[in-house]
Amino acid sequence: MIVVLDFGGQYAQLIARRVREARVFSELLPHDTPVEEIRRKDPEGIILSGGPNSVYEEGAPRVDPALFELGVPVLGICYGMQLMALMLGGEVRAVQIREYGRSELEVMEHGKLFSGTPDEQTVWTSHGDAVLAAPPGFRVTARTPSVPILAFEEPSRGLYGVQFHPEVRHTEYGMEILKNFLFEACGCAPEWTPVNIVTEAVERIRRQVGDARAICALSGGVDSATAAMLVHRAIGENLTCVFVDHGLLRQNEAEQVVEAFRREAGLPLVHVDARERFLDRLAGVTDPEAKRKIVGEEFIRVFEEQAREIEDARFLVQGTLYSDVIESGTRDAARIKSHHNVGGLPEVMDLELVEPLRNLFKDEVRVVAAELGMPERLVWRQPFPGPGLAIRIIGEVTAERLEILRRADAVLQDEIRAAGYYRRLWQSFAVLPAVQSVGVMGDARTYAYPIVIRAVTSDDAMTADWARLPYDLLERISNRIINEVPGVNRVALDITSKPPGTIEWE
Ligand code: XMP
Repeated sequence: MIVVLDFGGQYAQLIARRVREARVFSELLPHDTPVEEIRRKDPEGIILSGGPNSVYEEGAPRVDPALFELGVPVLGICYGMQLMALMLGGEVRAVQIREYGRSELEVMEHGKLFSGTPDEQTVWTSHGDAVLAAPPGFRVTARTPSVPILAFEEPSRGLYGVQFHPEVRHTEYGMEILKNFLFEACGCAPEWTPVNIVTEAVERIRRQVGDARAICALSGGVDSATAAMLVHRAIGENLTCVFVDHGLLRQNEAEQVVEAFRREAGLPLVHVDARERFLDRLAGVTDPEAKRKIVGEEFIRVFEEQAREIEDARFLVQGTLYSDVIESGTRDAARIKSHHNVGGLPEVMDLELVEPLRNLFKDEVRVVAAELGMPERLVWRQPFPGPGLAIRIIGEVTAERLEILRRADAVLQDEIRAAGYYRRLWQSFAVLPAVQSVGVMGDARTYAYPIVIRAVTSDDAMTADWARLPYDLLERISNRIINEVPGVNRVALDITSKPPGTIEWE
């Protein structure tokens, strides 16, 4: 297991993911995690991430010097390397030529880190400071034309530093260099494989839940579905899944979820048709936050009613991901929207949580889902918000407006899939605004709703860019929506990134 200490660099999460891509489990921890706590985790290696500070700035984050005496190999990346240099008796200074982006690196000595990589290679750097003198006992292993010390190592103490970013794809041999650290320096074994993840998770769930009963709220998304399948594998019939159809799902979605779980996966599934209840409560409501709140509260109410029917359920299964865990631990962001997830449930229910995906990133969840035999359609489903179409219908949610949006969205999905774009986009969907406009169809005047196409690329939904879809694809979507969906006479394209927009309209 590898501990990645986060110094606030934009690539800290990426380092943890790359380590896992090399099939070694990694955990991202705050840089001020006490050394004792790190020792207890018994890591095979430690990586110090980059960060925005200068090491000699006042208040710049440090580590306990005892970290370098643990007898565990340490790799410092960028800020991490500078910190290592400074704390172990080297020298760091601002460099005249700031290096950002592509640099040509020359390997002076292959040592452990550059073993098996060429003498000259392209690396990605982003730094204003550099190491001027390596600490005593360290050998300088690489340089660029403008920076004489781009990497150093002291293998007998297990200490390594690189000024560039091996974790970004633009660094040609980055993955090889990371693997050299993991396998040559730390002696890790590549055992973090989908099969092992599943086996381990199933054992852990069995230990936690024993013979007790558990319940799970299925949304149809890949996270809750994967969590449910893992728990089902561990405790079988003692798991009951509840699928609340709030009527705010997309075309045929409820049927697909029921089909996939009950028939294909053989999971015990309670299908609650609560469509009318939600529509009644949403009647006349136009404020986005009010809509979110109503859907969230009503969801909990329906779920609780169902849970009461399941005798002596003691556990609640949730699809919490590692990114949720990291974010709630480190981010202190302003509330932009009240997110409704299946999360939020345990506060009002007296159940112990089972969270089998707490250690996994989204892409790893997809790998596990595929390993568990989940249908491809679900494995690769784009994220869908808990409040569903209620927040894609601007203004009042009515049965008629739901029908319009559902049909338009189905056309859009159909064309996006046919053009091979579905997996390349983070999300693609239709929005129904609360305005109407004049048009002409078959020589007659129309006065109807527009549909807005929203398609974005993103890595983590924190930021997003509008997708540059081909004109001919947009044209097909537009033509089909207007021809096939009554009540729509215009199609528009949302070309706003996030920020300043958000992905959803409400
Ligand atoms: P925004 O609109 O804030 O959305 O840019 C970021 C991501 O979160 C999804 N989203 C939600 N997911 N419950 C969820 O589980 C919610 O209430 C919710 N609201 C937005 C959104 O689809 C996007 O992927």
